[in-house]
Amino acid sequence: MSGSDRTNSIPNSKGDRRKPGERRARVTTSPDGERRRGSDRRDETSWQAVSIEAGSPASESDRALLSAAIDARTRAQAHYSSFKVGAALETADGHVIGGCNIENATYGLTLCAERVALVKALSDGHSIFTRIAVVADTEAPTPPCGPCRQLLWEYCGDIDIILGNLNGPTGRLRLSALLPMPFDRRLLE
Ligand code: THU
Repeated sequence: MSGSDRTNSIPNSKGDRRKPGERRARVTTSPDGERRRGSDRRDETSWQAVSIEAGSPASESDRALLSAAIDARTRAQAHYSSFKVGAALETADGHVIGGCNIENATYGLTLCAERVALVKALSDGHSIFTRIAVVADTEAPTPPCGPCRQLLWEYCGDIDIILGNLNGPTGRLRLSALLPMPFDRRLLE
């Protein structure tokens, strides 16, 4: 650490000299037993490297699927986060199944909108899917969370994902862009 770093940093109660808001460097132990200092990468912007098709005119059918997601969102049970999400999953034979997030007092049992749409569709006997639209009332797109990506991959394959807000589409991408190295049943064979 340089001298100027030292003057800018504030020793905290544990004696390290992080700047306000700066996270502690992680110390890891490698297989050879050597301790190495790593850095906290959570604030790095690499997640933005996933490119979404933004700004391109959305097709009428994308807009229609988005509308179904907006409609499903009106039934969201988001009493704890107030973050309402809607999803609409399209089957290969043209059915559209809506889903909304459903929260509960334990928090941890929350069901995301995408998963609700998926389990509804599967339990109704649908098995081939083409697109899913996901909507929240935010400027930035709301992509499916990690567990939803896994389940969508398992049951839908590399489907198209249309992201949007209440004003319309904000992006479009394939699931494989969000889950580039999936663990799936092929690896169990
Ligand atoms: N949520 C979804 O339903 N789908 C997403 O893609 C992201 C997050 C929900 C879960 C929870 O009810 C709320 O949004 C805040 O995380």
